[in-house]
Amino acid sequence: MKIGIYGGAFDPFHNGHLSMIRGAIASKKVDKVIVIPTGMPCFKPARKVTLSPYRFYMVKAALKDEPKCEICDIEQVFGEPSYTAKTLENLRKQKIVSDKDELFLMCGSDILFEFESWYHPEEIVKQARLLCALRPGIDEGQARNEALHLEEKFDTKIKFFKIEGVDVASSVLRKQSVFDEDVPDIVAEFIKTHGLYCEDSPLMHVSDEMYKTLMKHCFTLFHEMSGKRLLHSMNVCVLATRYAIRFGADPDKCALAALLHDCAKELPEDYQIELSAKIIHGYIPGKQILHSPAGAVYAKEHYGVEDQEVLDAIQYHTIGREVMTETDKIVYLADKVEPARDYDDLTLIRKYAETDLDAALIECYCAIKESFAQKGMQIHDDTKKSLAYLLANRTQ
Ligand SMILES: [Fe+2]
Ligand SMILES: [Fe+2]
Repeated sequence: MKIGIYGGAFDPFHNGHLSMIRGAIASKKVDKVIVIPTGMPCFKPARKVTLSPYRFYMVKAALKDEPKCEICDIEQVFGEPSYTAKTLENLRKQKIVSDKDELFLMCGSDILFEFESWYHPEEIVKQARLLCALRPGIDEGQARNEALHLEEKFDTKIKFFKIEGVDVASSVLRKQSVFDEDVPDIVAEFIKTHGLYCEDSPLMHVSDEMYKTLMKHCFTLFHEMSGKRLLHSMNVCVLATRYAIRFGADPDKCALAALLHDCAKELPEDYQIELSAKIIHGYIPGKQILHSPAGAVYAKEHYGVEDQEVLDAIQYHTIGREVMTETDKIVYLADKVEPARDYDDLTLIRKYAETDLDAALIECYCAIKESFAQKGMQIHDDTKKSLAYLLANRTQ
């Protein structure tokens, strides 16, 4: 089989990317295309690139109905910068493609002029041939001349295919923060739902060390939980960091606790019970709550979190506790109102959370109390205590 390999940061994925994929398939030079979003960026500082799971699931959504096209998570690994030569080698090693498959590395004509400076180009051409897109308006003669030079130098053959002209660049889109015309509808929706590219990311305010830790955990979580839950956790992380900055709490602690708050939720129930029993003695917490204490233990044992304040915020994110720390409150609220949450009218809680954490928390507890009451249920005792404490200590 002839397989096109199309890698990139896709930050964001736009119509130009789609036209590359469709053009390659339409040219019949390849039978299918494997799209590989980069994991660890190798040419840019890590903070300049959107966290990889956001980009991965954005591309996945965009390709959902695209025929002869699949997404591959081979680069979703921490600590290994995404070098093409390595990725091509790993595709064969991991049997994602077979030895019989012929690989074509898809690229724009501009890549021809920088290919020699890539990481081990001689290794790349051993694994794959270049398949170069010709857009209307580019100097085709110049591109073909450069291709001849590369063919001679690297003893390879370069193929070309024509694509429709789609004049769009991710860097320009990010700057403009306007996407509708230039990205597939589903990508525009994804960007909106997850609040991407709309402001300087709050994560710019966590320390370098913490940013690295968050990236590392994102890669681990990517392989441990569903996309939906990971995206939720990342949204909570970004929002909790924003609240931390606003309310003078510690962005590092809030970001870490928020990212990991649901880390145990998709573990087998038996295992959650076993984990939870290490800090909750004498009874098994209810099903909805179980993942909070289990998560605190799992974050410590599996993710190496030592900071008790962070572990507490994970433990109390479902029901609260009588006296909540700032970190507890922030993680609790960010979990309830992150941008992808749409199960209720959260307008008021979101509004209060901009200026007054306690007011937001009281509003949130009261909303939960009311919805429980409608079902003939009572809120958890710890939530009651937390609400009573907040009301009793309210100064305004
Ligand atoms: Fe949770
Ligand atoms: Fe959650």
